[in-house]
Formats: sequence, structure tokens, C-alpha cells
Amino acid sequence: VTQVFSDLATFRAACDSARSTQKSVGFVPTMGALHHGHATLAQTAKSECDWVAVSIFVNPTQFGPNEDFDRYPRTLEADVRILEPMGVDAVFAPSASLVYPLGDQTRVHVGSLAEPFCGGFRPGHFEGVATVVSKLLGIVGKCSAYFGRKDYQQLQIIKRVVTDLFLPVNVVGVPTVREPDGLALSSRNRYLKPEDRQQALSLVRGLRAAFDLFEQGERNVGNLRQASCKLVERDMTKVDYVQLADPDSLEVYQDNQSAGSRLLIAMAAYLGTTRLIDNIVLGEDPRPKESI
Ligand code: PAF
Repeated sequence: VTQVFSDLATFRAACDSARSTQKSVGFVPTMGALHHGHATLAQTAKSECDWVAVSIFVNPTQFGPNEDFDRYPRTLEADVRILEPMGVDAVFAPSASLVYPLGDQTRVHVGSLAEPFCGGFRPGHFEGVATVVSKLLGIVGKCSAYFGRKDYQQLQIIKRVVTDLFLPVNVVGVPTVREPDGLALSSRNRYLKPEDRQQALSLVRGLRAAFDLFEQGERNVGNLRQASCKLVERDMTKVDYVQLADPDSLEVYQDNQSAGSRLLIAMAAYLGTTRLIDNIVLGEDPRPKESI
């Protein structure tokens, strides 16, 4: 059975107790509203670790004042029902006042990795993510922690935080899970109306366009970017960015540059008021499949 904890000391004791019996600890931080992408993170953790904990916490500090914190889906009971049959050992669902007690003063600020892409459009977002993940890892202790590659910039930032703060954590990036039509899974997909679905697919179409050109040998950043951007702009309400960058440093390439053997293409765009993101690493990830 999955034990559900809301108290810091007892959850930390459960993590310590697993390690004291020589079990390896896997940890999957989430904001709940779990979908098959999260389930894949938990499954991967279960296949690699002896004892697995999932945290469910809608982190207020990573939402901007005009973002969807209030309407973000909160579905704790359904989430636990998804995790239980997968053999997840513990769920940690703390309150906001536990994670951010009155008067807490520490925030984890990440440098240039947090500046491009979503960093420019969501001020403070990655500071909120880095802070809450550091707090959660501080409670769990030595573990392997699992994050989806769909939030590629977040994954790179967390790897950096763990390195820079000497946290005893092995960060594992897990491939993006997609619907059969290619749409990347996201808790925000449940905001989409059925008639929005076709347009939402323009993100993955944009990625495929860049993938195909790259496979044909195209290395000019402008050509790759524009082929992709054209499709996204045609169908989405508003495009925040379609950009190419070094997959490790996240240094953004300009249109007149030419790419090396690996290249991140990342995008964020709105459909109505719903903001969606997607990415692949050209030269590394497979072509996002379309089975229908
Ligand atoms: O990716 C998420 O769901 C969140 O950003 C995370 C890592 C759980 C931090 O709140």
C-alpha cells in the first residue's frame, strides 16, 4: 500500500528508514493532476530503485501573478489511485505553509541557464522551481530524482542546482510521453477544448518539420527555426518563442549561425489562454511519432 504523508518529520523518517535497510530511494516530484507522463516517471523510478516516493505539491512560487495557480487541477485522491497499483511506496502531499513557513527567506537563484526560453516570459518561475525542488530534495535526502524531458530547461536547471549545492542526488531525465497523435502530455492539456486539439498539434508538427530538415542535412539555424515556427504561428493564438540552442548550456543560436551535431529546438505558445511547451534535441531524440 502507498502511504500518504503530509508531515515533514514522518516523511523524512520513512525515507531514512528505507535507506537504513539498504534500499535505494527514487523520488518523483510532481504538482499532481497526474497523467501517463508522470506514471512513466514513477515506473522508471520503480524499475531503477527499491523504494519510491512521489511528491504532490502545487508550488505557488513558480506561478506568476497572472498564471494558472488558482485553476491548476488538484486531484489528490485520483492521483493516489494512479500511483498505488504501480507500487509507489510513499506520497508526500505537504501544505503550502509546511513548504513555505511564515518568514522563510531562502530562494535558490539560478544564473544564465534560467534566462532564455521560458525564463524570459515567466519571471521568477525557475527560481520558484529551483527553490521547491531544493527543499523537497533536502527532505528526501540521498536519492535518484526523476524529471521529464518535456520540461527540458527545468531538467537542465535542476541538474545544475544539484551540482552546485552538492546535493546527494542522481538526476534522471525521462523521455517525453506523447498522445498517439503526437501531442506531448501535460496537465494543462485538460484545459484544451476538443476543437483546440488539431491546433495544439502544430507544436509537434513544428518539431517534426525541423527534425526532417535536420535529417536531410540542413544545419542553418534560421532555416530550421523558420520551417518550424511557420507551422506553430499558423495555428496557435500567440507564440512566445521557437528557438534553437545548445542542448547543454542552453545558449540560444541566432538565425545566421549553423548548428553542430546536437541541437535543442524548444517552443512555447498559447492556444487561447492555455500555454503549451514542447521540445526535442535534434541529433539525439527520435522523430516524434504520429500513429494516426
Ligand atoms: O515539473 C513539475 O511538475 C514542477 O515544476 C516540479 C518539478 C514538481 C516543481 O514544482
